[in-house]
Amino acid sequence: MKGIVLAGGSGTRLYPLTIPVSKQLLPISDKPMIYYPLSVLMLAGIREILIIGKAADLPQFRTLLGDGSHLGLDLTYVAQPEPRGIAEAFLLGANHIGDDQCALVLGDNIFHGTAFSKLLRDEVRDLRGCTLFGYSVKDPERHGVGVTDEHGKLIDIEEKPSRPHSNRAITGLYLYDNDVVDIAKNLRPSVRGELEITDVNRAYVAAGRAKLIDLGRGFAWLDAGTPEAMLQASQYVRTLEERQGVRIACIEETALRMGYIDAQTCYRLGTSMSGSNYGRYVMDIAEEFGALV
Ligand code: G1P
Repeated sequence: MKGIVLAGGSGTRLYPLTIPVSKQLLPISDKPMIYYPLSVLMLAGIREILIIGKAADLPQFRTLLGDGSHLGLDLTYVAQPEPRGIAEAFLLGANHIGDDQCALVLGDNIFHGTAFSKLLRDEVRDLRGCTLFGYSVKDPERHGVGVTDEHGKLIDIEEKPSRPHSNRAITGLYLYDNDVVDIAKNLRPSVRGELEITDVNRAYVAAGRAKLIDLGRGFAWLDAGTPEAMLQASQYVRTLEERQGVRIACIEETALRMGYIDAQTCYRLGTSMSGSNYGRYVMDIAEEFGALV
């Protein structure tokens, strides 16, 4: 399965922060926002990942992540000339996807919960059609919202409905079979003038080929699209990290635990950042995994 991180958009809800810099490069706690969605794809076992962003932002993404080989990844980049909706990712990413399946994650979405890696790998392995991830929220009208029948089966999705049928938001992580490319090619722009991800998902629902996984109340799903949400996400991450002494979305650690890199490589990555607690944490983890120091 191929992966895409959509890190485009103009981030106007974060102005002036995002005038000179991409939203997805802003910090959530001690690391760039994009580490969180990137680590989700890594945890799913996906290593060939396309990052889509504004042309002006791609050099900074490259500076941060390069070609990904130091993490055992294959990262490529493509520019989104102007934001035309989330589903444009499948048009800009058609070559990258080829005849494979595809996971899309939005660059400002943060997922955290126990056994998430296993859940993702199981869903990737068993994928038929599309798999969506639902999460109960207080403000469903701000999201795509899943409509289910009395048996909990997904029968429709509404995009930002003023009167939502449920509080089940559709999160910004989507797994698709290869049909997604054709579905996206045949989409018509919505009244907002955008290629809506919800219309892609509705095509799968209409064909009876969409599955909705409930992430449950013990799970954290945050989107960091506003200053308030960014601060909340930082506080959540920091609280857990300080309490448990582990780090969330430390991509070097994820690469090591997934077997994409060895302990020595991980240690070296840590030493290049040894001036920060983050870098020293990467060194410590590598040492735990047997790196010779
Ligand atoms: C987008 C999608 C929406 C989804 C949300 C998740 O909305 O259109 O369906 O629930 O991402 O973050 P946006 O936040 O880009 O307005």
